[in-house]
Amino acid sequence: MMNRYAIVLAAGQGTRMKSKLYKVLHPVCGKPMVEHVVDQISQLQPEEIVTIVGHGAEAVQTHLKDRSTFAVQEEQLGTAHAVLQAKIALGDKDGLTLVVCGDTPLIQGHTMEALMKYHHEKRAKATILTTVLDNPTGYGRIIRDDLGIVEKIVEQKDASEKEQRVNEINTGTYCFDNLALFEALEKVSNENAQGEYYLPDVIKILKDEDEVVAAYRMENAKESLGVNDRVALAEAQEIMRHRINEKHMRNGVTLIDPANTYIDVDVEIGQDTIIGPNVSIHGKTVIGDDCEITGASLLDNAILGERVKVRHSSIYDSKVGDDVQVGPYSHLRPESEISEGVKIGNFVETKKATIGKNSKIPHFIYMGDAEIGENVNIGCGSIAVNYDGKNKAKTIIGDDVFIGCNSNLVAPVKIGDKAFVAAGSTITKDVPEGALAISRVKQENKEGYAKRLNFGK
Ligand code: UD1
Ligand code: CA
Repeated sequence: MMNRYAIVLAAGQGTRMKSKLYKVLHPVCGKPMVEHVVDQISQLQPEEIVTIVGHGAEAVQTHLKDRSTFAVQEEQLGTAHAVLQAKIALGDKDGLTLVVCGDTPLIQGHTMEALMKYHHEKRAKATILTTVLDNPTGYGRIIRDDLGIVEKIVEQKDASEKEQRVNEINTGTYCFDNLALFEALEKVSNENAQGEYYLPDVIKILKDEDEVVAAYRMENAKESLGVNDRVALAEAQEIMRHRINEKHMRNGVTLIDPANTYIDVDVEIGQDTIIGPNVSIHGKTVIGDDCEITGASLLDNAILGERVKVRHSSIYDSKVGDDVQVGPYSHLRPESEISEGVKIGNFVETKKATIGKNSKIPHFIYMGDAEIGENVNIGCGSIAVNYDGKNKAKTIIGDDVFIGCNSNLVAPVKIGDKAFVAAGSTITKDVPEGALAISRVKQENKEGYAKRLNFGK
């Protein structure tokens, strides 16, 4: 097999996005567009992927890390000029080079594989990945002669009226014979409507030199979407979302209303898990089998065991064991580690909190910077008082502890195993194992006082 290389174009500013964020870094279902492209290309196992960066170079490099090498295009003079920046890295290599735009996040590995196969079969020097669109506006058009053989690509802004009626478009993905590509690039001029060096002009240049140029028309037009503005970004999200949701459903996950379920591309979900409408699942979240995630829940980098039930709740950067219940309306903030069988009810907030097996923290509770043992019951309205306005301190609760309702545990404080805190207590000193701590004003009853207040009646 011939050596394979890839060039990803990601130096453009993306003016039409009207954004502070560089175009190719806009996420589609949780992942920057350019990362989607590089991930798909990686499936073809090329020798090297060179990403052309300019605007936002550092940010793009931070995202792609060692999955790509980089070439800088100082000035954005057009797509041909962009590809030329890879000359130092690839100029003298023998093999096939894929060129893909960083703003086409829906392109798939198997389509590029098919493109390369077709290119090889046709013994072509260049093969364009094309598709047919109902509305081709904005894309370069594929111009064929009377025999249907590709002649050239004409950009929207340079196209005659007749050419504009052509609805076969250039997807911006190509396969080239590498040496022929770099040779032809030197001959591209910028005499066109935009004064740019167009990569598509390489097609005409090769054609004029009697080289074989082919076009591989892909079936799935949806993969071709080039994201130039926020309207297309939303369209890309919708298509990607559909693709992701379908994959999970085929893997045995029930989505009650897939059109309103928002799952990022790297999320993993186990069999027989049910996801209700309006749920958002982000980042590297992993959900086990037989879970139920319902209400407007949001999971972000959450690791859930099996049979976990989450209702109307948010979980960020946290771990939740088997058979845990969360919600409705609770908030697990980063570094919460919830062991199996725990019940977290409504209006509970945790942060940097570990909660041992089978403990219950059911109603209106805040546990921040807390270490809670097994079989603990924390009463309604209790708080780990972790912040004095300057520093954070830790609350440690042993096993089998009972914390009465509305208790304040002023950290740093330690409650020993099997201890009991009476309702309404403000605990400022450690409580020894097995002790009862009670810290509240003694009740006084003033007989007949209520009647006296209603004077006159
Ligand atoms: C380009 C193609 C068009 C095709 C369409 C598919 C050209 C001239 N036109 O048009 O035929 O139908 O893609 O989506 O190639 N870039 C650079 N450096 C530059 C200019 C652009 O790296 O100097 C990058 C951009 O970041 C982007 C990609 O190249 O990722 C495409 O550029 P863009 O300006 O979006 O081209 P289109 O007008 O969409
Ligand atoms: Ca584009």
